Amino acid sequence: MSKKIFSGVQPTGNLHLGNYLGAIKNFVNLQKEKENICIYCVVDLHAITIKQDPEILKKNIRETTAVFLASGLDPKKSIIFNQSMVSSHAEGAWILGCVARMGWLNRMTQFKEKAGKDKEKASVGLYIYPILMASDILLYDATHVPVGEDQKQHLELTRDIAQKFNSDFNAPNFLIEPEPLIQQNFSRIMSLKDGKKKMSKSDPSDQSRINLTDNKDQIVNKIKKAKTDSGILPDNDSDLQKRPELNNLYGIFSSIQDQNLDLTIDEFKGKNFSDFKNSLSDALVEKIYPISLEINKLLKDERYIDEILLSGASKAEKIASKKVNDIKKKIGF
Ligand code: AMP
Ligand code: TRP
Repeated sequence: MSKKIFSGVQPTGNLHLGNYLGAIKNFVNLQKEKENICIYCVVDLHAITIKQDPEILKKNIRETTAVFLASGLDPKKSIIFNQSMVSSHAEGAWILGCVARMGWLNRMTQFKEKAGKDKEKASVGLYIYPILMASDILLYDATHVPVGEDQKQHLELTRDIAQKFNSDFNAPNFLIEPEPLIQQNFSRIMSLKDGKKKMSKSDPSDQSRINLTDNKDQIVNKIKKAKTDSGILPDNDSDLQKRPELNNLYGIFSSIQDQNLDLTIDEFKGKNFSDFKNSLSDALVEKIYPISLEINKLLKDERYIDEILLSGASKAEKIASKKVNDIKKKIGF
């Protein structure tokens, strides 16, 4: 059955292996199914919920687009654009913000994590961020949204908003309730320094993540230094599950090789840590380094990237502005 896919990635720099394995790799697989309509957005309006330097933001918008292209997204098959160029997203967010309830937003765990201890100092934008995300999705009638595990709650909120709008305005099925597409395995890639912390763009330690722009030496070094424990390599899953750092590295290897975890356990049982780490580095260099090379090549041609975004925005605008107009009619404007 044909699916309408929408997803977004923030242009906040340092795109890493977690973004790739948790989300972008899935974007590319969905694009391969010919009957799918795929829309992928560089969500720059979301990025400014935390203060950004304008020059760096501009660079990061192009870099995120380059990551999409280098990973295999094709502007002939998917719509690729940046959010701020389609004003309907912000307009839709205002209207949906009048449907969403404070109590729903107060439950969002990502806000609590990002706002930190001093919530009074967080931007209002950070608080209403999930409403803009709902607008992104609902304006395209997206049926499926590929994201990492951390976005599940935002998708549930999107469904709640759609349901309430449809019921408040007596418009059954007018806003489509989207399904999250979360990879069953390895949907949460953890830090290379701490198996209990998510791999993240904002971790101050560059050693905690493999960036998609890392060169060969950086990849090999980061894996060499990645935290492990002093046990022997596991021969069963229940042993592995008790060892967060190793579990993460085994997950990364399995995901990169598209094989299940049991096969990875079998492949390395009885071997040395160095054998495993060498194989992991080789696999990453084989699959991630070509992406890094391509990103760097693409970034040399800013005009090419800008043209892709412009042409994507014009296609997106047609879809989104029509839906916002329909929404306005339902409301009585
Ligand atoms: P963000 O970097 O927050 O814009 O996230 C872009 C996409 O990558 C989202 O779908 C996230 O869920 C996903 N993602 C971010 N970090 C990770 C991680 N450590 N593991 C798996 N997926 C992730
Ligand atoms: N909030 C998402 C993240 O941080 C990014 C995002 C914005 C998004 N709008 C979206 C993802 C719409 C999916 C669909 O990862």
